[in-house]
Amino acid sequence: NKGNYEHYMQKEIHEQPESLTTTMRGRLIRGGTCKAKTVLLGGLKDHLKTIRRSRRIVFIGCGTSYNAALAARPILEELSGIPVTMEIASDLLDRQGPIYREDTAVFVSQSGETADTLNALEYALQNGALCVGITNTVGSAIARHTHCGVHINAGAEIGVASTKAYTSQIVVMAMLALAIGGDAISNQARREAIIDCLFDLPNKVREVLKLDQEMKDLAKLLIAEQSLLMFGRGYNYATALEGSLKVKEVALMHSEGILAGEMKHGPLALVDESLPIVVIATHDACFSKQQSVIQQLHARKGRLIVMCSRGDAAAVSLGGACRVIEVPQVEDCLQPVVNIVPLQLLAYHLTVLRGYNVDQPRNLAKSVTTE
Ligand code: UD1
Ligand code: F6R
Repeated sequence: NKGNYEHYMQKEIHEQPESLTTTMRGRLIRGGTCKAKTVLLGGLKDHLKTIRRSRRIVFIGCGTSYNAALAARPILEELSGIPVTMEIASDLLDRQGPIYREDTAVFVSQSGETADTLNALEYALQNGALCVGITNTVGSAIARHTHCGVHINAGAEIGVASTKAYTSQIVVMAMLALAIGGDAISNQARREAIIDCLFDLPNKVREVLKLDQEMKDLAKLLIAEQSLLMFGRGYNYATALEGSLKVKEVALMHSEGILAGEMKHGPLALVDESLPIVVIATHDACFSKQQSVIQQLHARKGRLIVMCSRGDAAAVSLGGACRVIEVPQVEDCLQPVVNIVPLQLLAYHLTVLRGYNVDQPRNLAKSVTTE
């Protein structure tokens, strides 16, 4: 049921304040006098000790689910102190990459039925790793075959392009980082700031959804382009990959997410006065580096669209030379949840304006059950 919306993708983008609320329901403890704020993930509580003892945490997934894990990687590293590595499921299998008994392997999948991810799970089980699932589908193959896990509870996702599952996955993995990090005094202030931010996150997403018309106007400008680059770094490298995946898969426009730190190692050669480039430059520890990237792209006459935190427009627009998308600022590790929303809207409007099928993109299936 699409309700008042024309497409499932549109509905699923706009219902993210609600899906995020459901994802967190019962899992955030506000604390009280003398009691710490904390998270409770029922499916993991008996396994946290084992996870904390593991030598490495390996995230495994495909497509959008992989991107969500990439967005959560920095906070998991920070709070757990355990090395976190990333694997695209098919590539792990192609290489028969090493997985050990001392590893915790985390399988991220909306459908819970993706063949590559499921095969990687069988492989990790054979190698004796503790296998944890992050899935949206209760009773799915990945939910059943993992030792333990967390349901993201985002509600059924119908549009082939994953939107609300992505933001709920990031939130669950941030909660996973908090749970594994435990109650070390050293990062108590950080932990509480993240928990406070989680409580308010649905409101921030509601705010950023107000950019709908602005993103439609931007889509009108970009409708006939051949290609669109997206530059991100740090927490928002994943945002660049995921934003460009959305544009590619539904709007059928070439789009590439680029790690801004790699700019001079090749991508800079593409920059000219016609190619549109989205630069994600919301305020975090990488901000000044992103400002310098913006200056260097501008010096090569790049056509820039800069996403920045509200209030930073003057600091990134180079005297009005760049188009600016201002978003509400949240805790750095949760900023990817806010930042992806305008890009989802952009991909949606580009698709409709270009006359393509939003919910059933050419050649794609919702659940990829063959290799
Ligand atoms: C569970 C109930 C929820 C109830 C809540 C009350 C289910 C599915 N969930 O939620 O309805 O409101 O208790 O306390 O009945 N699991 C995996 N792999 C996965 C995902 C989950 O093994 O990929 C396992 C978990 O380890 C857990 C079970 O499935 O044993 C349910 O997980 P989850 O729904 O996340 O647990 P709760 O949030 O506690
Ligand atoms: C992109 C998309 C795909 C899926 C990928 C993994 O919008 O939907 O990239 O994310 O096929 O699917 P799940 O998460 O079901 O394992």
